[in-house]
Amino acid sequence: MCGITGYIGYRDAYPIVINGLKRLEYRGYDSAGIMVYDGEQIQLSKTKGKVFDLEAIVSSDGAKKEGKIGIGHTRWATHGVPNDVNSHPHFSQSGDLVIVHNGIIENYDTLKKELVARGYTFHSDTDTEVLINLIEEVKKTEGCKLGKAVQLALTNVIGAYAIAVFDKTKPNELVVAKLGSPIAIGVGDKNEEFFVASDASPFIEYTKNAIYLEDGELAIIKKDKGIKVRKIDNDKEIDATIQELQLNLEQIEKGGYDHFMLKEIHEQPKAIVDTYRGRMLANEGVIRMAGVDDNLSKFLNADRIIIVACGTSWHAGLVGEYLFEDMARIPVEVEYASEFRYRNPIITSKDVVIAISQSGETADTLAAIKLAKSKGAFVFGVCNVVGSSISRETHAGAYTHAGPEIGVASTKAFTTQITVLSLITLKLAQAKGTLSTSTINGYLQALQQIPNQVEKLLAIDPLVRDIADVYKEATNCLYLGRGFNFPVALEGALKLKEISYIHAEGYPAAEMKHGPIALIDENMPVFVIATSKGHYEKVVSNIQEIKSRSGKIVAIVTEGDVTVREIADHVIEIPDTDEAFTPLLTTIPLQLLSYHIAVMLGKNVDQPRNLAKSVTVE
Ligand code: F6R
Repeated sequence: MCGITGYIGYRDAYPIVINGLKRLEYRGYDSAGIMVYDGEQIQLSKTKGKVFDLEAIVSSDGAKKEGKIGIGHTRWATHGVPNDVNSHPHFSQSGDLVIVHNGIIENYDTLKKELVARGYTFHSDTDTEVLINLIEEVKKTEGCKLGKAVQLALTNVIGAYAIAVFDKTKPNELVVAKLGSPIAIGVGDKNEEFFVASDASPFIEYTKNAIYLEDGELAIIKKDKGIKVRKIDNDKEIDATIQELQLNLEQIEKGGYDHFMLKEIHEQPKAIVDTYRGRMLANEGVIRMAGVDDNLSKFLNADRIIIVACGTSWHAGLVGEYLFEDMARIPVEVEYASEFRYRNPIITSKDVVIAISQSGETADTLAAIKLAKSKGAFVFGVCNVVGSSISRETHAGAYTHAGPEIGVASTKAFTTQITVLSLITLKLAQAKGTLSTSTINGYLQALQQIPNQVEKLLAIDPLVRDIADVYKEATNCLYLGRGFNFPVALEGALKLKEISYIHAEGYPAAEMKHGPIALIDENMPVFVIATSKGHYEKVVSNIQEIKSRSGKIVAIVTEGDVTVREIADHVIEIPDTDEAFTPLLTTIPLQLLSYHIAVMLGKNVDQPRNLAKSVTVE
């Protein structure tokens, strides 16, 4: 939540910071702000709204844009409603210090009262303004420099943060610090310029060298002098590792598509191949996954697997449950990370916990991992973002190689997570002997076909658009699936809800008669997944039940289907594959359907209201 960015060097900071904010806008987009220091004055503009609105404000408020040092922020509100005053950056009381902050200061109220008693007044409702005044107060009372003041102030803070702080009295440096929220420092040529950002996307065209601060670290970045990293809780200096980024500019641009979401839907064939490439040698019946191979005994001796995740990643986890139990015969529990972390769960050293997260930064998932580790469980991560907090916190893991996912609605993350879970399952089934060699080889061949099948399926886009046009005015929709496709029904409903704001529910098809059937009338579109090998006859009966109550049926069926075609109002065919892998196909038309409905309704597909891509707060 919230994106922060900054620049210090020899170039004009304004365009770098503004462009950086545009790239980070997926993290939050209810307000935006920028500060540039022109050598004499702090030029600060901020507004409720998007970076686009900020640019308009800067053009109209006459703020000078020159200056070689600047910081910016794009906000997802936590403390205080989205308005101009609560937007970042925030000044300290003296006007010398300026801060941008991502995270939550939990004890802000206590700190605020103490500061008020010392004569501070506050203009915003934010916890961030409390933090910058705390830093100012420490700087004043201790008579220390900015870096030390930030360090001391943070030792009094409970919560999570990634911050960048500027001091007008020392205008050649930025101080950044991190606990719980990510921060990357781009290191330019010859140490002459530095970039600060919540992820590396704002500076990828300037440098491929980055330092990712660890939790509890603080960096003092000085123009022409370089970076000093130290621990916040002691003065120990750290040799920060400079990593070479694999990201390129093309990956974070729209590439001719109208929206990132559409681009990312279309990237799925490649993303799935990238995810299994080098891991699956289908013709040889070999699955190689270093994170699993190195810890095979942990998986094989596990009493059970607990999958923890949120949102779409949780849905992928549910598919994982069906895969692991069916093929590898390992008991699985799938938990919302937010529930798991607070319900005093029974976890033992014989449990393997798999944490799934696209961003690798989701606060609840991270906390669930820490809890599981503290109880002795082996924790395995399935993440997309390389070097993310979750990938660092887990004992081992497997990356999905989906590439950057920028649209807020997860698409390629879901299919690549299922791909990784399928590979782990088959690897374990092989090691345990729960499936015969020929069955495993058959599955591997089927998995290898999936990218081509997804490619073929994407060509049905015009049909899906026509169906979207018919149902775009619906106020409620039902999604039904069974077995491997029950999680897809949940995911289909989530996709529709989050980008079109139409109420939608996902249900196991057979559960319909235990309640939701009461909702069905001629105004209720029901999207039913009825693949040929997935309890087909039972689902056909469910479809009949909907038909008898005048519901409108859009069915996703296996190509060549005759029976459902006769009953349903619309039919979308998917290529034939093993039932276990149908989620990788059935989800595609549901993603396209949500996309088209949202576009037809004029919604902001990539930045739906109230949401943010990476949920780094509880
Ligand atoms: C839905 C969506 C969210 C995320 C959830 C978990 O489209 O994007 O539900 O899936 O916030 O995020 P990650 O996977 O980054 O942990």
